[in-house]
Amino acid sequence: MNILVTGSNGQLGSEIRAQASLYPDRHFLFLDLPDLDITNKEQVDTFCREKKIGSIINCAAYTAVDKAESDAEAAFLVNREGAAVLASCASKYNALLVHISTDYVFNGEAFTPYRESDHASPIGVYGISKWEGEERIREISPSYFIIRTSWLYSSHGANFLKTMLRLGAERESLNVVFDQIGSPTSASDMAGAILFLLDRTDSAHRYRHTYHYSNEGVCSWYDFAVSIMDIAGLGCMVRPVESSEYPQTARRPHFSVLNKSAIKRDWGIHIPHWRASLLREIEKLLK
Ligand SMILES: NC(=O)c1ccc[n+]([C@@H]2O[C@H](COP(=O)([O-])OP(=O)(O)OC[C@H]3O[C@@H](n4cnc5c(N)ncnc54)[C@H](OP(=O)(O)O)[C@@H]3O)[C@@H](O)[C@H]2O)c1
Repeated sequence: MNILVTGSNGQLGSEIRAQASLYPDRHFLFLDLPDLDITNKEQVDTFCREKKIGSIINCAAYTAVDKAESDAEAAFLVNREGAAVLASCASKYNALLVHISTDYVFNGEAFTPYRESDHASPIGVYGISKWEGEERIREISPSYFIIRTSWLYSSHGANFLKTMLRLGAERESLNVVFDQIGSPTSASDMAGAILFLLDRTDSAHRYRHTYHYSNEGVCSWYDFAVSIMDIAGLGCMVRPVESSEYPQTARRPHFSVLNKSAIKRDWGIHIPHWRASLLREIEKLLK
């Protein structure tokens, strides 16, 4: 049976593609827009049937958090309806669905790391659309893993790391918020964890799990930016500011640290500290 990776040109999809050769016994099919649109039920259904898809890793999403506030219809179409399309096809063809979700399903008012069972209460359109996508999968899909992550970055695509490296080379100083706390996640580490987990699943077994995955450790965006400048050897001074001094269209949770005990306990997954992974990714980018 084949493994379909949707949204395969994005950050996470690209990292899965980069590591797929570590699993030579598995056959992966990497698809993104315009070749496979997860909101197009007929197209996804035909593809899954013709290609005998046994597992789907859904990396496709509408991820523009600020834009989603004024473009809610598009965010819900991809993040909720697209998830539902994949869940229905996975159900029809007995496929396992691995779906990626976000720390933004939480409102950020907690003081201790969020567990999978904690109450979801998203505060923006993107978070609501991702939460409703999760719920559609739980309703429809007989076998799934929903894996929530946070602050994803990679050497592919646009992300905070690459923005900081660019601004750090252009400017003498910049302001970064210090009152939003979370855990950066290397898309490469996450791709490795997903493939490790998938490789250990049994096609005869039904899975219905929600997990959290991010790198170990906790920081603010300010700390993250300081580490990036430090590791990259950039002289740009980073100034800590409050979120109120850096207005953004969408509100963000102030605290979105994820408790990862469940995925580590159930699958024996080792998770690196965010700074070790950051060092590796910056070395890769500056090579
Ligand atoms: N980025 C983060 O900080 C972060 C944090 C927490 C969780 N997550 C979650 O992690 C997952 C992966 O995120 P990422 O950063 O890798 O996202 P990404 O880089 O934005 O990649 C998403 C990919 O999906 C594609 N896509 C959009 N609509 C599609 C559709 N209708 N059908 C098929 N493909 C479609 C995008 O194409 P276009 O570029 O052409 O739109 C893009 O290639 C997502 O579920 C996201 O919600 C991300």
